[in-house]
Amino acid sequence: MKKIVHISLLGLIIIISLFVLKQQSIIKKQEDDKENYEYLSKSKSPNLEGINIISHIEYEDYYVLGVHYPVTNNQKINSEISELAYNHITEFKSDAEEFFTGPEPPGGFSSWKYELNIDYDIHRFSSEIFSFKFDVYMYTGGAHSIHEIITKSFNLESGEKLKLRDLFKEGSEYLNVISNLSYTQLIESGRLGDLFSENWVKKGTSPNEENFKNFTLTDNSMFFFFPAYQVGPWAAGDQYVEIEYITINSLLNSKFAKVPLEPEDSDKEITPEPPNPQIPEPPVIDDYSKVVALTFDDGPHPTNTTIILDELKKRNAVATFFVLGNRAQYYPELLARIISEGSEIGNHTWNHKQLTKLSTEEIHKQINDTQEIIKYLTDITPTIIRPPYGSVDKRVKQEINMPIILWSVDPEDWKNKNSDMIIGHILTKAKNGDIVLQHDLYEWTAKSVGPIIDDFIAKGYKFVTVSQLLGFDQNPSNAIAGKIYYLQQLIY
Ligand code: NI
Repeated sequence: MKKIVHISLLGLIIIISLFVLKQQSIIKKQEDDKENYEYLSKSKSPNLEGINIISHIEYEDYYVLGVHYPVTNNQKINSEISELAYNHITEFKSDAEEFFTGPEPPGGFSSWKYELNIDYDIHRFSSEIFSFKFDVYMYTGGAHSIHEIITKSFNLESGEKLKLRDLFKEGSEYLNVISNLSYTQLIESGRLGDLFSENWVKKGTSPNEENFKNFTLTDNSMFFFFPAYQVGPWAAGDQYVEIEYITINSLLNSKFAKVPLEPEDSDKEITPEPPNPQIPEPPVIDDYSKVVALTFDDGPHPTNTTIILDELKKRNAVATFFVLGNRAQYYPELLARIISEGSEIGNHTWNHKQLTKLSTEEIHKQINDTQEIIKYLTDITPTIIRPPYGSVDKRVKQEINMPIILWSVDPEDWKNKNSDMIIGHILTKAKNGDIVLQHDLYEWTAKSVGPIIDDFIAKGYKFVTVSQLLGFDQNPSNAIAGKIYYLQQLIY
């Protein structure tokens, strides 16, 4: 009996020790990871705290769509926002279908490809009150795209939605005041340039709720947005005015009146630590007879990019991630992980619009804003780009000063929501030198990665980044700006 007790006690001690050791190693691992990526987490904008981004991207023969919307911790707000997104998607798709089943337009359907893009900005009034400004962009043929601005302000804790009149004291003449301030600012700022028309401005800023329904709140000011045609002709584009709370403080409801802030103590400013990414040495690949480059677009995604990185790491494989700037800003730690594990980050533009439909200035903004956020978050500047939907023409090629990377294998994983179908497609189609297109937004894609890599490794393949596949890393002169690459050239 005594012996049994001793043995059990010994067993228990062993189990406890093992448990403690395991816990310690888990904590140690978490600390290691934290250390690697910590400097980056500091860089995320406070406006994004507590908010996630959802992206819905499709590319059909007759339409493309890229819709991004925020998700908060409040279900009521989330259903209102997703309803906004999906109402637009449903209406757009039915219009596109009607167009596609109608008579073929001059130049064929593809040159008139319909497009819907929705993106948003976040403004923050306080830790609870946030404003979302949605920019709806639609192309349905013809010379011009259509823009719509929709703003929504919420208390993220209570789910309460704020209307303009909630911000002001009851019975105050707030509409007259903001009307006058807006009118004066639009005239004095000269923002309308030669397109300024006094009557147009007067009508668009006349004191009624409808004219001022699009507002956002920052900590210092309210912004009012006027879509094209409200205060000027189409060519004048969207306009805005900014009204500082201080100028209308006496009208504001006490909940929104701002106490002037203490001047900030400049000594308190913290200098951010210089980024120090640990970039592994690229693998020496002596045999390029069997290589494939996996590429993942439209991310990063908090769970699916993580799963893909885990699967790559387990198998000592690397891939290329063409990230969107508007999503990258939410997930700095994932960008850091991609780089520190030897994979590559490419530019996939800011919010996934067809570059072929944008002005030269807008093309550069889509690319440069994305380069800048990636550089800011990781200290690495991408050297390759993949244009959304693979849409390029002569003009876009001339404006892009990086090699343009398309693909040679596309399992259409956004449509084929099934890991086995994706695995089957890639295993039968991909061969030496191919660039495979997938999207790290989807769980079925994330699940396909392990089996795909295992199968190719068993057949003697190696996985490389796009820059390795195309020899850009070994010889930068292989990388020609504005040239399209869709599979490995015979350069080895
Ligand atoms: Ni894409």
